[in-house]
Amino acid sequence: MLGISMPATPSDEDGHGTHTASTAAGAFVEGANVLGNANGTAVGMAPFAHLAIYKVCGQSGCANTDLLAGIESAIQDGVDVMSISIGSPALPNFYTRVIDIGTFKAMQKGIFISCSAGNNGPSFSTVSNSAPWCLTVGASTMDRSIRTTVMLGNGEFCNGESLFQPKDFQSNKPLPIIFPGANGDANTTACINGSLDGIDVKGKAVLCERGRIGDIAKGLVVKNAGGSAMIVMNREYEGFSIIAAAHVLPASHVSFSDGSKIKTYINSTLSPTAMILFRGTILGTSPSPMVISFSSRGPNLPSPGILKPDVLGPGVNVLAGWPQNVGSFPILGSTFNIISGTSMSCPHLSGIAALIKSSHPDWSPAAIKSAIMTTADVLDNRGKQIVDERLTPADLFATGAGHVNPSRANDPGLIYDLTPDDYLAYLCGLGYTDNQVRMLAGSNASCSIITSIREGELNYPSFSVTLGPSQTFNRTVTNVGNAMSAYTVEIIKPQGVDVSVKPDALHFSSMNEKLTYSVTFSPLESGSGGSIGFAEGSLKWVSSSSSTKYEVRSPISVTFDNSK
Ligand SMILES: *[C@@H]1O[C@H](CO)[C@@H](O)[C@H](O)[C@H]1NC(C)=O
Ligand SMILES: *[C@@H]1O[C@H](CO)[C@@H](O)[C@H](O)[C@H]1NC(C)=O
Ligand SMILES: *[C@@H]1O[C@H](CO)[C@@H](O)[C@H](O)[C@H]1NC(C)=O
Ligand SMILES: *[C@@H]1O[C@H](CO)[C@@H](O)[C@H](O)[C@H]1NC(C)=O
Ligand SMILES: *[C@@H]1O[C@H](CO)[C@@H](O)[C@H](O)[C@H]1NC(C)=O
Repeated sequence: MLGISMPATPSDEDGHGTHTASTAAGAFVEGANVLGNANGTAVGMAPFAHLAIYKVCGQSGCANTDLLAGIESAIQDGVDVMSISIGSPALPNFYTRVIDIGTFKAMQKGIFISCSAGNNGPSFSTVSNSAPWCLTVGASTMDRSIRTTVMLGNGEFCNGESLFQPKDFQSNKPLPIIFPGANGDANTTACINGSLDGIDVKGKAVLCERGRIGDIAKGLVVKNAGGSAMIVMNREYEGFSIIAAAHVLPASHVSFSDGSKIKTYINSTLSPTAMILFRGTILGTSPSPMVISFSSRGPNLPSPGILKPDVLGPGVNVLAGWPQNVGSFPILGSTFNIISGTSMSCPHLSGIAALIKSSHPDWSPAAIKSAIMTTADVLDNRGKQIVDERLTPADLFATGAGHVNPSRANDPGLIYDLTPDDYLAYLCGLGYTDNQVRMLAGSNASCSIITSIREGELNYPSFSVTLGPSQTFNRTVTNVGNAMSAYTVEIIKPQGVDVSVKPDALHFSSMNEKLTYSVTFSPLESGSGGSIGFAEGSLKWVSSSSSTKYEVRSPISVTFDNSK
């Protein structure tokens, strides 16, 4: 059973809850599409899972009391997985943040918790829902584009996206194009309501920058002002990340670089023109997956020793159920919408966790999380390292362990397991007082009788190390692959760091056998030299048995801090 939190009245007021719920679970529906695009068979990740839905948010947001009551109800109802597509800013600790408090209790009851990482990227330290007892899910793109091509009067063109691709729009007719923001006003640049008053946009294609109001709302402003089409361009930090939205007029969302090219062109001629060509649904696009600009990033403020986010899942242009008209369009037949956010990536992982739980009913939430993380993909569909919104290799603060690979996650070979008591030792290690620990653990827990551990000693499937002096951690792996199996370690050392693992081979002779290794991270003399910097590597246990080849990979994130 899946527990899904959704936005007040028992019904879904804005579609978010229906969309996230039908991403996690739900039967096969043929002919699912949005305004004719992305047509195909839709299905939830765990088609036969049962959903229990708790409405904890309304038009005035998500009250702390409602969040806690919703989590408590789901625990009482005995859910197996909780899917929490709710963001709230990261705080410097876990014991004052209600999602962290509520989910700690859920974890103690053996419930798997999947949370969205937040939509505050790409700046560092924006990740939220970052407690180690939750799976924190970032958002990536898919290999599908709902393409609109902008053709400029000088023959240059660029590819963008839009969900609304009307058949009756004369795509082959060049329109005059205007950038109202050339007057230097930030509101006009963003085409907010009222900002186009007194500017002649009638019958024109209008270039607007993202921000201040939503992209669809900009389209309405342009349309109400008499504009015929809109090109919405990224701000610089959004780079090459584009999404397909249900615009209310012919439109194309383009990258910052393409938008800049369009601005230059408009400024280069007295009568600039543009056409918007509708190309429909294109499959097999690359690079994919790619980290989307809004996906929140590490480091993890309340616990730098735990790498977050944990994993990436599809969160861009996700098609799922929708309870009302899409944009301003009446829905004909089945009701679906395509929207984007880490709210969309989270329920993908919730459904996958439910599938793993049903195939391994005895696995703990930590075991399921380990299986998902250690088998995640680090390469994209070109065979190259997954890139971010700048098209440069994404760092671990964006990707965590990588992009979820559900079939491999079901058979990981080894798992890093944890018990509820391990998290208590971890909380004590964070230096929390007894009262602070009790906010989370809800008991008479006392750090004077619990042996505390450092963050890095939590038996977590990834490493986040701050150097300073060398550090050694023990990790224990449990054999869930073949009874008789041997693993050897393969290390990719982060630059400026020596990594040594003892022993460097593990021999298992039975299922569920546990073996412990130790790993030491030491800064090299020629290390980072003074300032704070980052380096990345990985530690992988590889089995070479005849039947199945397992690769159990943990990312290593190193922060150099010579003040420590
Ligand atoms: C921009 O819009 C905001 C919100 O409508 C308004 O408060 C502000 O005064 C506007 N700025 C300018 C320069 O018009
Ligand atoms: C813009 O403002 C006008 C007049 O105040 C209002 O009628 C209209 O609904 C607004 N449009 C949007 C998109 O907010
Ligand atoms: C347009 O061109 C003029 C003259 O070349 C230049 O001064 C100005 O900065 C340009 N404006 C934009 C928005 O590119
Ligand atoms: C809490 O108190 C009860 C009763 O005094 C005791 O049995 C229990 O072990 C305590 N639990 C913890 C975690 O200290
Ligand atoms: C790691 O395990 C070894 C062997 O069990 C033990 O001697 C050592 O104290 C442990 N180290 C840490 C840091 O827990």
